[in-house]
Amino acid sequence: MSNNAPAGFISVDDALKLDKAQIRELQMKHQNGVKLELAEMLGAARMYVRGDNDKLWDEEGNLHYDMIAGVGAMGMGNSNMFIWEQMEKVKHIPNFYPLGYHHMASSLANNLAITSPEGKLTRMWTGGGGGAEANEGAIKLCKMAAHGHRSRIASVMGAYHGKTAGSLALTGSEKWKKYQFPLMPAANLPFGDLVALEDCLKTRDVCAFFIEPIQGEGGIKLHPEGYLKAVRELCTKYGTYLVCDEIQTGVGRTGKMWACEHDGVVPDVIVFAKGISGGFMPLAGYICTEEIWNAAYGDPETCFHHTVTFGESPLTCAAGIASLQYIYDNDLIAQSAIKGEQIKGRLQEIADKYPKVIKEVRGRGLMIGIEFHLAGKTLKEMVGNRAAAQEAIGARIASILMNTYNVQVMFTINNPIVIRMLPPLAVTQETIDYAMKAFDSACAEVAGDF
Ligand SMILES: Cc1ncc(COP(=O)(O)O)c(C=O)c1O
Repeated sequence: MSNNAPAGFISVDDALKLDKAQIRELQMKHQNGVKLELAEMLGAARMYVRGDNDKLWDEEGNLHYDMIAGVGAMGMGNSNMFIWEQMEKVKHIPNFYPLGYHHMASSLANNLAITSPEGKLTRMWTGGGGGAEANEGAIKLCKMAAHGHRSRIASVMGAYHGKTAGSLALTGSEKWKKYQFPLMPAANLPFGDLVALEDCLKTRDVCAFFIEPIQGEGGIKLHPEGYLKAVRELCTKYGTYLVCDEIQTGVGRTGKMWACEHDGVVPDVIVFAKGISGGFMPLAGYICTEEIWNAAYGDPETCFHHTVTFGESPLTCAAGIASLQYIYDNDLIAQSAIKGEQIKGRLQEIADKYPKVIKEVRGRGLMIGIEFHLAGKTLKEMVGNRAAAQEAIGARIASILMNTYNVQVMFTINNPIVIRMLPPLAVTQETIDYAMKAFDSACAEVAGDF
């Protein structure tokens, strides 16, 4: 309760006492109400009041098994007390961007340099609340470093790099671009196609090539064997910067610290967000080589060209440091690889049992996708058309898992016929066993539609 605020003002204490109906009313009135209604329709509207690693509890006390970890952001588990305790240690430090000395940001930069592929990405910039803003930072870095000589940026069809003005030009799905033209000049190249890439880079007007080492929202899609290595060679040959968007794949998710390490590739830039702070704080940015950094921001005239108010804030950077420490102290990268193999193996057994339902199980570490066949007549008739049927089958299975079995998963937004599993890196055997049984039952339930 506030003494001086206008009538109707809600304090934090008041907010914590609101019930679900009151919250709904506020959201419908003041926020994106249609989004909430859609979530309700899919049975995905939840109100969690407590979390513990891979488990969540809703306001009625029901237990939910977390196999999606805030779409990869809660990699270190829900309500991770270690990270919270480390953040508490800096709560007295003013949380803004000081023109001077930053113990947390400089230490995070040091730690990220140590973890970077071959230790070669030694400069850090942070300043985004989310992935899209981090990609904006990387776009500007590359354009600055190219001194305006190269106007285009390239990316891959099906890719997801965010929905802000610059990142949207790189996102490889037309549906998000509606009413946003003209966008930044960009080339969206066919998936896995080295010939198309070389044709594009040959023009020598492409400043950077952005790529997810594994496409996340595109449907947990792995590039063909050897592709990323060849991409590195082509980028070097034509003087184009290689940017790996590791917002979903990074920070241990795929069984390596950075997914590009599976291919032995050192990009010029790695973009991070999501799991880097264990999901505690909106921390996002990039690490890059000394060379590109100096070319972009290495003199007094350019060093202020991309600053943001909350970049390098002590609280966000402390969360980043703590989250990296938690990964190492608990050996989570190795666990991600081992548990990922186990889950993939179990899912493959289910796929073999329902070959008409499941087309493919794929992924690396704890980044796993299950692609379904197009549903048969019943579902198509139910939703009216083929495109909607495609969207509907992923949503339907996700909805059964969430509503009947309380298992949290999500379909991939640029390819909704794929469901993904991105559990916390320390996912327990109990949750794995429960989720696999639930998935088997969900497949049995829909098998008649195929
Ligand atoms: C690879 C990748 N890049 C960028 C983004 C955009 O991040 P944000 O939603 O935080 O803007 C995402 C989000 O899912 C992503 O997976």
